Amino acid sequence: MGEISQLQSVYNRSTYKLTNHGVRNVQVLKEAFQHMNEDLESDMYGKGQIIEDFQEKMAALTGKEDAVFFPSGTMAQQIALRIWCDEKGVRKVAYHPLSHLEIHEEDGLKELHCIESVFLTDRNRVIDLSDVMKMEDGVAAVLLELPQREIGGQLPSFKTLKEISQFCRDKQIRLHLDGARLLEVLPYYQKSAAEVCALFDSIYLSLYKGIGGIAGAILAGDRDFVKQSKVWKRRYGGDLISLYPYIIPADYYFDRRSQKMEQYFKESQEAAERFNSCYGISTLPAVPVSNMFHVHFQQSRAQVEPILVEVEQRTGIGITNHLIETQDQCCYFEVHIGDQYSEIPKELVTKAFDQLHQSMEQHLKHP
Ligand SMILES: Cc1ncc(COP(=O)(O)O)c(C=O)c1O
Repeated sequence: MGEISQLQSVYNRSTYKLTNHGVRNVQVLKEAFQHMNEDLESDMYGKGQIIEDFQEKMAALTGKEDAVFFPSGTMAQQIALRIWCDEKGVRKVAYHPLSHLEIHEEDGLKELHCIESVFLTDRNRVIDLSDVMKMEDGVAAVLLELPQREIGGQLPSFKTLKEISQFCRDKQIRLHLDGARLLEVLPYYQKSAAEVCALFDSIYLSLYKGIGGIAGAILAGDRDFVKQSKVWKRRYGGDLISLYPYIIPADYYFDRRSQKMEQYFKESQEAAERFNSCYGISTLPAVPVSNMFHVHFQQSRAQVEPILVEVEQRTGIGITNHLIETQDQCCYFEVHIGDQYSEIPKELVTKAFDQLHQSMEQHLKHP
């Protein structure tokens, strides 16, 4: 195992953690299986009651004709875009320059499918209607990511979504939703999943982010689209003989957490307000629109890390385990509010933020 930083080590030992649902250990799997009937049969190559029931449940959630379980969102989304490109007979899709497909998938779309990508906007904004309207010709599908993770989880308004959807329909351009965190944005929009999904032709939803399962994704759309995606899933080697070790936890944690998104959303706004009241700290967005946001510092990682170590050691609250350095020598970290935030006694949360404010002021005003 590689060496861990001092921040990581202090964070691991902290009594409480500010973000996420908890450690991703074997207990997560054990809890999901504890009440399962041992005689329940495995799914086999995409067939069987376990997988089919769950897929039906997800089709109903998204309001789409059909849904299919994938081992990963990476696989599901590349396939969705390939299907839309084949339908139109072109190899071009459009999305945000910081889309997961562009920066985290080793050019899967380009290398595996020769699909070219068009960037709709610059790195620091969410996609707007005007970006889509002035997009070059010959695009088979537009992908919108809700919320746009790499810029702190920002969102276009629901009105903008409707306008983009209408524009794409009029131009016969398919609209795909990277809804890795779809459930997490519903409280902000005050819409059901089906109401948001109705604006899109195809939907991807992650089963391990806000839901907190082991891994896995859902791809939903009309019957023909899902049928084609199953062929591609087989081609990709995604039709594992048994997927139930992922499906059972996905279903279990979906039932436990899908109703808690409103709580995570409010707590994320509360936590962001607390960060923003600390000396030298700001969040992006300033007021979160989901359970996530980024916490920014104007100093380098080397300057900020000892401050966080000190605060975590003094308060026993793990704020973050790592910092990401930006090109301009500043740094930030990502926050996802989950079950752990409400488990911290409120007075300790207040104490941690008071300490953070004081330590920031002390180190930065009088370095
Ligand atoms: C916005 C977004 N899209 C797609 C993915 C890919 O999901 P997976 O890890 O299941 O391949 C991720 C994963 O982090 C993501 O954040």
